[in-house]
Amino acid sequence: MSEFVTLAMIDEAVAAIRAKTSHQPKIGLILGSGLGDLAESISPADYIHYSEIPHWPVSTIQGHKGRLVIGDLESKPVMIMQGRAHFYEGYPISFIGFPIRVMIRMGVEVLIVTNAAGGVNPDFGPGDVMLIKDHISLMAMGGNNPLRGPNIDEFGERFPDMSRSYDQDLLQKARESAQEKGVKPKEGVYICLAGPSFETPADLQFMRTIGIDAVGMSTVPEVVVARHGGLRVLGISGISNKANLDGSTVTTHEEVLEAGKVLVPKLDAIIRGVIRRI
Ligand code: HPA
Repeated sequence: MSEFVTLAMIDEAVAAIRAKTSHQPKIGLILGSGLGDLAESISPADYIHYSEIPHWPVSTIQGHKGRLVIGDLESKPVMIMQGRAHFYEGYPISFIGFPIRVMIRMGVEVLIVTNAAGGVNPDFGPGDVMLIKDHISLMAMGGNNPLRGPNIDEFGERFPDMSRSYDQDLLQKARESAQEKGVKPKEGVYICLAGPSFETPADLQFMRTIGIDAVGMSTVPEVVVARHGGLRVLGISGISNKANLDGSTVTTHEEVLEAGKVLVPKLDAIIRGVIRRI
């Protein structure tokens, strides 16, 4: 696999998807670990497994179906990723943004991205939903920026602004949608770490010190690529566990998937409300 994504690769993937669907999605959705059920209500839908799409990074993780579901949600054409690949699976960082660029070339204008995350803010517990107000791109600071490599001018400029990564209007729509359904979301700052190992208590103290509310292993590279390409972004974390700041508990992937069951109806309410309001 090459290190960097090219426009030709992206357009090959777009052609493969277009050959299997006639929908023209305007909204892209990424459903994270244990959160994929939201896509099951799309009917009729076109299903395209990631392995059928050239160059697409395939997820190997339990809890990720690994397919695109394309159809209407709240009467709007959407393109849903049921599961995603992560950097820790071994893909070059540039490929973690590949699906976003495919969405952009398909005509998507809004990205709603979800993830399962550990609650670093002591007020957050399993089953809470956090609207992402901003992120800290620690991986990118360390050199793993998904835009590293030749800039693809068709998407955006070499030095893209990230000061308004999470769209204020979509955030407001998410707050209203939550309130309408009696869901009380938290709000905060998300960090993506490379994973796959969970954090030590000292790691988590560091996260807290630098102003993090929730920690996970995804989303930030996708949002950076989305913003480079001009998408408006809404990010939502489903808190699956309390981060283990004092070393007294153990974090497991099973716990992350279990929390998904409580989180899906809340995310469903917010996402449907936002889509209705777009
Ligand atoms: N840490 C990192 N990623 C996660 C966690 C966590 O505690 N929970 C779910 N994804």
